[in-house]
Amino acid sequence: MTFSWRKLAPAGNFPSLAALSRAYRKLERLNQESDRDYLVAALEKLGNALCLQSDAEQVYFYGSGSEAIYRILLALKKVTDKNIVALSAYTCPDIVTACLHAGFQVLPVDISPYSLEMDTSTIADEHLEQIAAVVLSNLYGLTDSLEPLKRNKWLLIDDACQGFFSRDENGHVGCRANTIGVVSFSRGKAICGFGGGGVLIGRHSFRKELTKDVISKLAESYEAEIDVLGLARLAYHILKIGGQTILERPQFYALPVAAPFLHLGQTIIKKQVMMKPINLPQIVAAWAQIKEQNNVTFPAHAQLWHEMLQGLEVIEPFIERGVDFSGSVRVQRYPLVLASDEQRDKVLSKLNQFGLGASASYPQAITDYREFQGAGLISCPCPNAQQVAKRIITVPIHKYVRMEDIHQGCQVIRACLAA
Ligand SMILES: Cc1ncc(COP(=O)(O)O)c(C=O)c1O
Repeated sequence: MTFSWRKLAPAGNFPSLAALSRAYRKLERLNQESDRDYLVAALEKLGNALCLQSDAEQVYFYGSGSEAIYRILLALKKVTDKNIVALSAYTCPDIVTACLHAGFQVLPVDISPYSLEMDTSTIADEHLEQIAAVVLSNLYGLTDSLEPLKRNKWLLIDDACQGFFSRDENGHVGCRANTIGVVSFSRGKAICGFGGGGVLIGRHSFRKELTKDVISKLAESYEAEIDVLGLARLAYHILKIGGQTILERPQFYALPVAAPFLHLGQTIIKKQVMMKPINLPQIVAAWAQIKEQNNVTFPAHAQLWHEMLQGLEVIEPFIERGVDFSGSVRVQRYPLVLASDEQRDKVLSKLNQFGLGASASYPQAITDYREFQGAGLISCPCPNAQQVAKRIITVPIHKYVRMEDIHQGCQVIRACLAA
């Protein structure tokens, strides 16, 4: 066997250095008197680009997707006395941190073990009346259905951090009918960049009274905050961006993986939402990503994984949801649910032995993080989410994935399942 350094990252699709420099040069033409005016103009450009790519008509920028959720919930607090936010019991724990930090209780809702869709019929009657909002996390680019939620008065937060480029019959994820959206520009997201985020106000957000009230409270308190970096910090950010962009390439990715202090692939639970205003390098990266989207590669890779996995006993949530990869759903990572914990661990370790970029995704169901116990997380049984957390893997589909990687990955999975 020949030794290879080649190692794929599970997600990640930073803009290339060329795309970053093109975006920077374009934004540089915004002639403004002061640094701050220039940054405000750059942010406006980013807002316009986001609106053009989606059904958004306005964007409020914050330091991260988590902060955007937190700000929405603070606004919601002003117009409701209900105190529960419901969300999928298998999702990004940063969402839970944002809800708890805003002073809400969090109700994890169990999911279908096939489609990973929230099963709202499992919500106990005692909680139904106290729900103020539901977060749809649209994980991996899967579009969570609005249908079971539409009839209720809940505020629907359409989290597009992973699903920004996906859409369904209700519109673009993040701006679907009657919802308020959230977007993030950090690593591994649909707009994969170096930080920052925002609230998306969709064209159809204003039809529902509660959504309208929340938007107006948000507008009252909104002021674009931008971190005007001095030369030294700017240089630091540029170096960091250059480093990350280069190190995510398969020929170098083994290096950051070997550095334990980077905590790559680990889920770290934050106690509070960090408030750091967005800065120029983050704006440039997000703008570059939106401008230079390559919408073709990801669905094609997901389609190939699907074709190659035919006949194997593996659950493919995208297929369970009826996605056909023809373009309306933009996959971020391709999730697979295996038959048992042992099988998952075996497949994961074999795929990673070959540097194929598989990940165990989030390590636990929301119910099981000890950090949230006693902090406002409502205790309720979510057996499917707990099982999924032990059996799920995601396989990569980003721009560095080659057809041979997918062929090899499927052979590895086949061999593990046959053993
Ligand atoms: C679905 C989802 N929503 C929100 C967030 C929070 O975004 P940010 O990292 O910008 O705080 C994440 C982060 O991983 C996420 O995956």
